[in-house]
Amino acid sequence: MTHIAFIFALVNDPGVRSISFHSEKISWKTHLAWFDRQIHENNPFYIVSFDDKPCGYVRMQRDPQLPKYEYILTIAVTAGHRKKGIATAALRAACKQALAEQSVRKIWAMVKKDNIASHRLFIKTFRKEAGTQIVNGHAATCFVYPDYLE
Ligand SMILES: CC(C)(COP(=O)(O)OP(=O)(O)OC[C@H]1O[C@@H](n2cnc3c(N)ncnc32)[C@H](O)[C@@H]1OP(=O)(O)O)[C@@H](O)C(=O)NCCC(=O)NCCS
Repeated sequence: MTHIAFIFALVNDPGVRSISFHSEKISWKTHLAWFDRQIHENNPFYIVSFDDKPCGYVRMQRDPQLPKYEYILTIAVTAGHRKKGIATAALRAACKQALAEQSVRKIWAMVKKDNIASHRLFIKTFRKEAGTQIVNGHAATCFVYPDYLE
């Protein structure tokens, strides 16, 4: 499976769609256009692998409401690979690398209030909540790196 097809399958995983702030299913056409934009904008995008097979991604995207060099991060791991510390390790590595190698100075994560796994992940890695926001009508907890990453 190509990386583009792997990401398409994972973003449409019902568990991933349900925690998203835009939870409708994503079409292949929309995915291709979105993927093309990520490449052209040179946004940090990491495929997470286990035993040389893809099992997740960490991606960072600019937001027009944020200052230049500030990005919003999204992470997902396939259902069969969860609860093994993969997201924790991938998140730490991706954030360090993005700040070291790309034009990234601050990374935000927005987590839906009821996303317990994600909240634990970011408390463990980014350490501390950085406020709350309403994103597309949903209450979200914000986290920010590099202020607190261990
Ligand atoms: C959130 C997600 C990336 C975590 O991936 P993971 O590889 O299972 O995470 P880890 O194994 O590194 O665990 C990180 C922490 O979350 C906790 N956790 C993981 N899954 C959990 C669950 N279903 N319920 C409660 N806690 C959970 C772990 O116990 C760990 O905390 P601890 O060390 O304090 O015990 C994964 O569940 C996922 O892809 N979910 C769907 C997408 C998503 O929510 N993305 C985040 C929005 S940006």
